Amino acid sequence: MESVQAIKQRFEIIGNDVKLNRAIEKAIQVAPTDISVLVTGESGVGKEAIPKIIHALSHRKHAKYIAVNCGAIPEGTIDSELFGHEKGAFTGATATRSGYFEVTDGGTIFLDEVGELPLTTQVRLLRVLENGEFLKVGSSQVQKTNVRIVAATNINMFEAIKKERFREDLYYRLSTVEINIPPLRDRKEDIHLLFRKFASDFGQKYKMPTIRLEDDAVQSLLKYRWPGNIRQLRNIAEQISVLEEQRSISLSTLNGYLPNSSGSNLPAVIKQERKESEFSNEREILYKVLFDMKGDLNDLKKLTLELLKNNDTEKVQEENENLIRKIYGKEEDEEEFTDQEEQNNEAAVLSLPEPKIEGTPNKSVQDDKYHFAEEIEEEETLSLHEKEIELIKKSLERNKGKRKAAAAELGISERTLYRKIKQYNL
Ligand SMILES: Nc1ncnc2c1ncn2[C@@H]1O[C@H](COP(=O)(O)OP(=O)(O)OP(=O)(O)O)[C@@H](O)[C@H]1O
Ligand SMILES: [Mg+2]
Repeated sequence: MESVQAIKQRFEIIGNDVKLNRAIEKAIQVAPTDISVLVTGESGVGKEAIPKIIHALSHRKHAKYIAVNCGAIPEGTIDSELFGHEKGAFTGATATRSGYFEVTDGGTIFLDEVGELPLTTQVRLLRVLENGEFLKVGSSQVQKTNVRIVAATNINMFEAIKKERFREDLYYRLSTVEINIPPLRDRKEDIHLLFRKFASDFGQKYKMPTIRLEDDAVQSLLKYRWPGNIRQLRNIAEQISVLEEQRSISLSTLNGYLPNSSGSNLPAVIKQERKESEFSNEREILYKVLFDMKGDLNDLKKLTLELLKNNDTEKVQEENENLIRKIYGKEEDEEEFTDQEEQNNEAAVLSLPEPKIEGTPNKSVQDDKYHFAEEIEEEETLSLHEKEIELIKKSLERNKGKRKAAAAELGISERTLYRKIKQYNL
């Protein structure tokens, strides 16, 4: 059995905290079995390494590993994404399609943000966990699959169960073994270690001398609450590495970057930073707008076709309620947007830097995911394809091949990016 230290090296996990070591040890122990594992812990603590370790150390390691972000897939399409659909199961289902549970047969599925799964999908998932059976959307033929499930959540599952948002029976099925990753504030001895590692990485990346914290700044770093955990720490190390000319960082300079510390003037800086890093140049913004428009156009085409085929406008309206809402929006949309905007501002103030990938870059992009995949089958101009490929390649390059970060930058789901990488053989 590989040692905890060897695993940490292999998966680039920094830290010597006892609770972190215990979590890794548990992952090593449970890996060779088929037991379902639930990884819990606050946002940004490093949950995503655990399912990778489990898969890599299991007998499934040569089969597929798929990470699905349950919170990022629209409710209307999640069943189809996970379990596939039959041709004609719904408007736009032009061909039969396999879902992740079918294509990952023999492998491992990581269900990230599992607490976000709609209740109807939870029922389907329970069935897979109980006897490996599932039905494609629109099909009555039972299919079998042999998939190991590792799930993760950063919400309080007991609360979710109490509020009837999550099925208790499913929770117990998923969490046969629970692995908890401690928050950064409880891993005091790891904080400075991680900071030094990130500072050194960013020094190299930006070809600048590594920043170094003065003693009282180190104390402030250790006392800080780190609501965004390691993701936040890494982001702050990056901001300081880029923005500060003086490479020896004083207490007051550091506090300027820690939200809720005195003298913080950060929100404006972060906001600007994020805006600039999301798109490297105007051309990319234009392409992104083009792709979004293409998605809308496809939806409109579908709707027009329905209207032409069927003279009964009311019936078409009823049957395509979701599509119509997607194209024309609904009244609450405005409210939702304002809420989202407020959340974004809050995020900036809190300086939780990396927008959750999974997060929702903007509504139209998020809703587009499924149709984005569908539209690939339709005619598209070659040049648009080429631009898209170029855009994806550049983003992957910028993010050192990290799909998660590239997807976030492109404003699409990791799954959509994965599909495109396969489609274009990138
Ligand atoms: N121990 C660690 N050493 C080095 N980097 C780490 C460590 N833990 C986490 N990270 C980095 O911190 C970032 C956040 O980790 P990760 O995405 O796994 O968080 P998470 O727990 O899944 O959060 P969320 O619930 O928001 O999805 C990643 O870039 C990851 O590489
Ligand atoms: Mg995560």
